[in-house]
Amino acid sequence: MFTKKEIINIRNQFPIFSKKINGYPLIYFDNSSTTQKPKCLINKNKYYYYNLNSNVYRNNCYLSNKSTFYIEKCRNIIKNFINANSKKEIIFTKGTTESINLICNCLNNINILKKNDEIIISLLEHHSNIIPWQYLCKKKKLILKIININKKYNISLKSLKNIISNKTKIISITHISNVFGTILPIKKIVEIIRNKNKNIIIILDGAQSISHIPINVKSLNIDFYAFSTHKIYGPYGLGILYGKKKILNQFPPYQLGGSMIKSVTLNKTIYTDLPKKFEAGTPNICSIFCFLYVIKYINKINIYNINIYEKKLINFIKNLFLKNKNIILYGKNNIHSSSILSFNIKNINNFDIGCMLNKYGICVRTGYHCSHPLMKYLNINGTIRISFGMYNTIEEIDKFYFFLLKIIKLLK
Ligand SMILES: Cc1ncc(COP(=O)(O)O)c(C=O)c1O
Repeated sequence: MFTKKEIINIRNQFPIFSKKINGYPLIYFDNSSTTQKPKCLINKNKYYYYNLNSNVYRNNCYLSNKSTFYIEKCRNIIKNFINANSKKEIIFTKGTTESINLICNCLNNINILKKNDEIIISLLEHHSNIIPWQYLCKKKKLILKIININKKYNISLKSLKNIISNKTKIISITHISNVFGTILPIKKIVEIIRNKNKNIIIILDGAQSISHIPINVKSLNIDFYAFSTHKIYGPYGLGILYGKKKILNQFPPYQLGGSMIKSVTLNKTIYTDLPKKFEAGTPNICSIFCFLYVIKYINKINIYNINIYEKKLINFIKNLFLKNKNIILYGKNNIHSSSILSFNIKNINNFDIGCMLNKYGICVRTGYHCSHPLMKYLNINGTIRISFGMYNTIEEIDKFYFFLLKIIKLLK
């Protein structure tokens, strides 16, 4: 748990919090969309272009060697952060979306999926973990099956058990729901899947878990884990795909070009080994460099401490909401929720609430949260979503709640 002084220190690392919106101090509760950026990222970004700018791997000059060194250092710190076996299993992409597309693209280009094979996703998925699979199923004449949800807005293990069959080849699910904040019981889910068939490829969309809970891909026993660095206080345009070496080695390259080859003639190319085989072209060098320092900063604070602190925030707001009869809280009985909370106000449009909160400098997300099928299933017109980061405070929640009550009174 953070002390008051520690929270002040953390907030001081994020220059954006000195900003006022409409004359009010910024209250940023939209961390699931993206997190704010610490000074170490902002300063290192400038440092990189002042001191190190160069292309990587292909050169022998001082700048290039240094930049290459930092890229590999970053790969290594990520490997340790999620407890992968080897640096070779860490691939740099553009984000979670590209990481999932990479897997789909590779599966589209090899012959391990046959007509009528099945891919399973859940109702809780973000569009990024639905549309690529829909596309692949259409292209390869596969069947897309959906795991249902239970009353706690978590996936139904009964539904999972029922739909896995001997034709199931891939299961791709989110770790934390970006709408409700429910944490899926991944260990249990993996156990159920592996007991049915240990060869099913299991993919975890980690976009919403990476900044909130410690990740250990080895103990989770999954095959892939994808996340975006901008959701963990890092830069835009960078994502990570962790993949088991055994599977990545079977995959064909995703994109073709420089950096991913051993040798090229006009007739034939021999591709290089992991992870570069999946990193054609010039990588996002500066972002990778900056992300190294972001992870160092998070390691210093410790992801376990972040997790404990954010649980305190979520429980605090949940208790306020539970006392208010105007608030429809989704997943109120869910003890597994993370630092995301979705709600609606009876008889008031969620968009109106978002606009009014904005007047007081409060940033939340309203609408469908890139989860149209889920909203349709629940027959709701979107929600108001609050999502915390490690810099949010109880005082901010109090202010937010004060203004929320004022808005409800005004709009009722
Ligand atoms: C669960 C989930 N998956 C995937 C994504 C897509 O992430 P990105 O847009 O960074 O690729 C998001 C973004 O909000 C998400 O919440």
